[in-house]
Amino acid sequence: MSQATNQSWGGRFSEPTDAFVARFTASVNFDQRLARQDIQGSIAHATMLARVGVLTEEERDAIINGLTDIQGEIERGEFNWSVPLEDVHMNIEARLTDKIGITGKKLHTGRSRNDQVATDIRLFMRDEIDVIEAELTRLRDGMIELAEREADTIMPGFTHLQTAQPVTFGHHLLAWQEMLARDHERLLDCRKRVNVMPLGAAALAGTTYPIDRHVTADLLGFDRPAENSLDAVSDRDFAIEFTSFASILLMHLSRMSEELVLWTSAQFNFIDLPDRFCTGSSIMPQKKNPDVPELVRGKTGRVYGHLMALLTLMKSQPLAYNKDNQEDKEPLFDAVDTVRDCLKAFADMVPAIVPKKESMYEAARRGFSTATDLADYLVRKGVAFRDAHEIVGLSVAYGLKTKKDLSEMTLEELQQFSDTIEQDVFEVLTLEGSVAARNHIGGTAPDQVRAAANRAREALAALKGAS
Ligand code: ARG
Repeated sequence: MSQATNQSWGGRFSEPTDAFVARFTASVNFDQRLARQDIQGSIAHATMLARVGVLTEEERDAIINGLTDIQGEIERGEFNWSVPLEDVHMNIEARLTDKIGITGKKLHTGRSRNDQVATDIRLFMRDEIDVIEAELTRLRDGMIELAEREADTIMPGFTHLQTAQPVTFGHHLLAWQEMLARDHERLLDCRKRVNVMPLGAAALAGTTYPIDRHVTADLLGFDRPAENSLDAVSDRDFAIEFTSFASILLMHLSRMSEELVLWTSAQFNFIDLPDRFCTGSSIMPQKKNPDVPELVRGKTGRVYGHLMALLTLMKSQPLAYNKDNQEDKEPLFDAVDTVRDCLKAFADMVPAIVPKKESMYEAARRGFSTATDLADYLVRKGVAFRDAHEIVGLSVAYGLKTKKDLSEMTLEELQQFSDTIEQDVFEVLTLEGSVAARNHIGGTAPDQVRAAANRAREALAALKGAS
């Protein structure tokens, strides 16, 4: 065998791989990130092979010790990654054989890189999902706490980005929290399908050795071995599911980011973000830019891109493994890193939001936000809703002309539009009266917001208990 042909599969080849092709087909530059999971999977595989008598206990121990040493070399940055050895799997196996001799070559018995790589990615995804879940939990915790603190803080609620009705800031934050609660469920649901073990599928059809896949699955903490060997080595739908979760999460974070960016502007002036989450301008000394939420909003695009890349990668692939699947890693790694960073940014930033309560209150007062309350008041006094709508419309037009909010008009002024209006109208025209009146589950009344925050906290605890 020529020196330059690959030592793992060069046997049937009569000429060395073209240098460009070797570089083009190699994945080691990025899949070395799976080294820890690759070694973890190999140790479980060797343990199982010894349990069923395919390896001796001495061989198993030599393999496990060798792999453990290699793990140390990698962690200390002493491992020499080689592109001609193609990928993380063959780099580690070749090093093992260097270290322990011929026994190293027995590790691959009853296994293929096809089930090996599918196993590595699933182990990696499971680890990352757990880290991401912890960050998501930290963010939800912080959001619920802030919502509770701001249960009485009044701000304008918007539709079409026009002032609609007063709400409380706590209620707005709990709306964000609901989005994240659904994302959290999607993540845990995805984890169930990630945590299934391909190992034992071998190249595609299974193996002739008397393997025990339940043993390997137990050792690796998988819920069960994958049911079908062809499917196990081929599908990457779990990666698509994760990036789909990630895309929806980032879509939500981009909406929150957009609001944070708007709210920190001089025009809204609803909140302040501490300086540590902002940067300045090199030319305009007065500027303080909300870079962190802007970047999260921007990073949403790349995550959508990864989802599209993975969907397209899998599209039309015939069974079973195809080299196309090597392309799953870079999008997946970047999606994982982006989600982690964006969640960390938000989990750190949200509890540090400083609401500018007076400014929010003023904005709610300025936009005729209690107009619906006046209409509801008239209806309660027997006016038909359409007529009430008309009366309030005329009152608002008068307010625009005289630059007065409804609550700032005298009783006489209001009575120009309907003599049904009496002194008690002022109870419903205040912002406090308006939010307090929406006093049902899901409504913005401060007491309801406090109750909702409690329920959110319980739901979060129950989810943590379940995972
Ligand atoms: N580097 C490959 C991947 O990431 C590993 C599996 C390769 N298998 C094969 N028969 N070429 O998918």
